[in-house]
Amino acid sequence: MTFLGIDIGTSGVKALLIDAAGKPLGDASAPAVEPVRPHPGWSEQNPADWWKATLGAIDKLKEAHPQKLAAVKGIGLSGHMHGATLLGENDDVLRPCILWNDGRSAAECAEMEAALPRLRDIAGNIAMPGFTAPKIAWVRKHEPEIYSRIRKVLLPKAYVRLLLTGEHVEDMSDAAGTLWLDVKRRDWSDELLSVTGLTRDHMPSLVEGSAVSAELKPEYVARWGMTGPVVVAGGAGDNSAAACGIGAIRPGEGFVSLGTSGVLFVSNEKFSPNTEGAVHAFCHSIPDTWHQMGVILSATDSLNWLSRITGKKQAELSGEAAAQFKGPGEAIFLPYLSGERTPHNNANARGSFVGLSQSTDPAQMAQAAMEGVTFAMRDCQRVLADAGTAINRLLAVGGGSKSALWLKMLATNLDMEIALPEDGDFGGALGAARLGLCAATGARPADVMSMPPIKTVISPDTSLSAAYSAQYARYRALYPAIEEARS
Ligand code: XUL
Repeated sequence: MTFLGIDIGTSGVKALLIDAAGKPLGDASAPAVEPVRPHPGWSEQNPADWWKATLGAIDKLKEAHPQKLAAVKGIGLSGHMHGATLLGENDDVLRPCILWNDGRSAAECAEMEAALPRLRDIAGNIAMPGFTAPKIAWVRKHEPEIYSRIRKVLLPKAYVRLLLTGEHVEDMSDAAGTLWLDVKRRDWSDELLSVTGLTRDHMPSLVEGSAVSAELKPEYVARWGMTGPVVVAGGAGDNSAAACGIGAIRPGEGFVSLGTSGVLFVSNEKFSPNTEGAVHAFCHSIPDTWHQMGVILSATDSLNWLSRITGKKQAELSGEAAAQFKGPGEAIFLPYLSGERTPHNNANARGSFVGLSQSTDPAQMAQAAMEGVTFAMRDCQRVLADAGTAINRLLAVGGGSKSALWLKMLATNLDMEIALPEDGDFGGALGAARLGLCAATGARPADVMSMPPIKTVISPDTSLSAAYSAQYARYRALYPAIEEARS
């Protein structure tokens, strides 16, 4: 028996096979067409591209591991969160999906909160443009003809599930990011839905991430040489899936992710909102468990931008920054290139470089970018602590965790040890495969979601702590001053 995890990422789909002991057996990826930005601050992607990449990745797995793929009994899905996939009468896609990093609906967020003053209490979250419901409020206002044809709203991985199984189903962790879920009760909220003129009929049915959501259609069972039935688990939003992949399911266990976006994720045994600090308080993808996240929108995307404008590769930039590093530099970078969620909840915030001189070079700018992202994660830690959350174990994941300097900055600024897994690839696909295993075999999530082997543990560099605290204080003072000047 084997199990398949499918992670639908913004830039591609990864499919990973594991055996019954949870050991990775092989993986394959297929790129997706990058999101388009039709206007500054907007971000859209065509759902057909996720499907093409999903089939592409699994077909590649079939070429490399035909027998192991044929033995699949359970599939788990992980996906980028919050995207609004609008379906009409026959499940036809009505417009490109408005993605998690799209900031167009700030006005609608304010209108929604005014229309339902209890919104934050029920949703456990602030209305933020990244979430799904405000995107529908925008469509209602600006594209009424499309709005009138909406029959279902699905998140990205639920759309892929629909094509794999024919069923409209969503798991709790992704559903929590819509702003239509009563996160404490783990059920759709009629009150929240009514703010955008929708009802439960527009929503997929709900299951826990580790439970069975549907069965794979016979045509795909045949295409991949499997013998049915093959069950598809509820799965998880990509962050909750990553947490399953690194075994962060008990209270206080978490990760810091340096991907396109940056995430500080911590598991909680109960629902623990802090809307003041723009903390995300969501359901975890396993029963009776919740989690909190601080989310920043441009983590490695900050270096990505610097790489575009300097013509140097990201790895080159971070390598040069490490080579010249002597402690906090002169330049300070605010990483708000796509607006910011935690702690500012401001889709219109923008990035800044402060303290440049004639001698500032790309390496120093890269150092400042890595420090800016680190300070933004320190902000996330501060607001999670305000919600009463203690982090007692932190692993680093995501592409940025390849940089030893970046991890050192993080450990020093968060003032805690950070463990780096041996294989940095414990992303959503592994967590999703583990959820598929639970759904197919009835195994207990606590027995399956183990911590990966650790390569190194990075300790804070206490000789830099005071200098970084001083630089962080300067960083924090800049945002209100710059926002005032821009307004
Ligand atoms: C979380 C969020 C991002 C996406 C990225 O709230 O928006 O982390 O899930 O894929």
